[in-house]
Amino acid sequence: MGIKKDNKIKIFCKQKRPLVCLTAYNKHMATIVDPFCDLVLVGDSLAMVLYGETNTNNASLQTMIEHGKSVVKGCAKSIVIVDMPKGTYESLPKVALKNAKKILKETGCDGVKLEGGVKISDTIKLLIKNKIPVMGHIGLMPQQVKHPKDYKVKGRSLEEQELIINDLKAVEKAGAFSVVIEAVTEKLANKLTKLSKIKTIGIGASKKCDGQILVTEDLLGFFNKNAKFVKKYADINGFISKAIKRFKSDVIKRKFPSKKNVY
Ligand code: KIV
Repeated sequence: MGIKKDNKIKIFCKQKRPLVCLTAYNKHMATIVDPFCDLVLVGDSLAMVLYGETNTNNASLQTMIEHGKSVVKGCAKSIVIVDMPKGTYESLPKVALKNAKKILKETGCDGVKLEGGVKISDTIKLLIKNKIPVMGHIGLMPQQVKHPKDYKVKGRSLEEQELIINDLKAVEKAGAFSVVIEAVTEKLANKLTKLSKIKTIGIGASKKCDGQILVTEDLLGFFNKNAKFVKKYADINGFISKAIKRFKSDVIKRKFPSKKNVY
C-alpha cells in the first residue's frame, strides 16, 4: 500500500536533505521523474511549454485538471501539486475554495499552488481550514507578468525585499506547507530561507534553499533560449532530430516498415 497523502507531506516537511522537485504535465513524464522526486508540480507553465503561449495566463482550470489527472496516474511516491491558474483564486476566498476542491477531487492530487503572499493570505487560510494543502509562490510571480520584459529578478531594492519578506511571512502564517521562491537575488533567497519555518523551494534563487525546482523540459534541453537559472542536463532536441532524420531516411528509401514491422 502507498504512503497516505498526509504522511507524504509530513515526510516532505521533515526531510533534512535538499528536496528535489520537477514539473510534469502528463503520465509519461511523471512516470520518468517520479522515482527521483519529492514533489512533482503540474505547473501552469504548461501554457507556454505545451500550448505555445507567451505567458502562463491562458491555462484554464479544466486544462490544469486534465493534465493533473494524467500526472497523478504516473506518480507513485512524489507529492503531486497542481497550480491554480490565473483567475481562479484571486477574487474571493470562497471562489478559490470551490476551484481548489474541484482540482483535488477530479485529479486526486495532494495539494495546490497559488501565487502571492499578503494579498491571498485569507484565501490560503480558508483552503487550509478545509484541509487542502497549499504551496505558496513568491518573488517573481509569472501570472502577474504582463510583458516578456517584466521577467526580471526581484529583490534588488530594499523596498522590494521588504515586500517579499512580508509575502513569505503571510504565506507561512496562513499555513502553507512550503513556498516556491522564484527569481530573487541570491542574498534575499538566503535570507528568506533562514527566516522561513516552511520549506523553501528555489527556482533562480539559491542553492541554500531547502529544495530546487525546474521545468523538466528546460533541463532536458527542449528550448534553445532559457533563463539564466536553467542548467541544461541534456540535448533532447538534438536527440529527437537525429531519430526523426533516420525515420525520414528509412521512409524515403522504403526501408521502413521492414519485415519486422508488418503483419
Ligand atoms: O508553472 C510552473 O511550472 C512553476 C514552476 C516554474 C515553479 O510555477
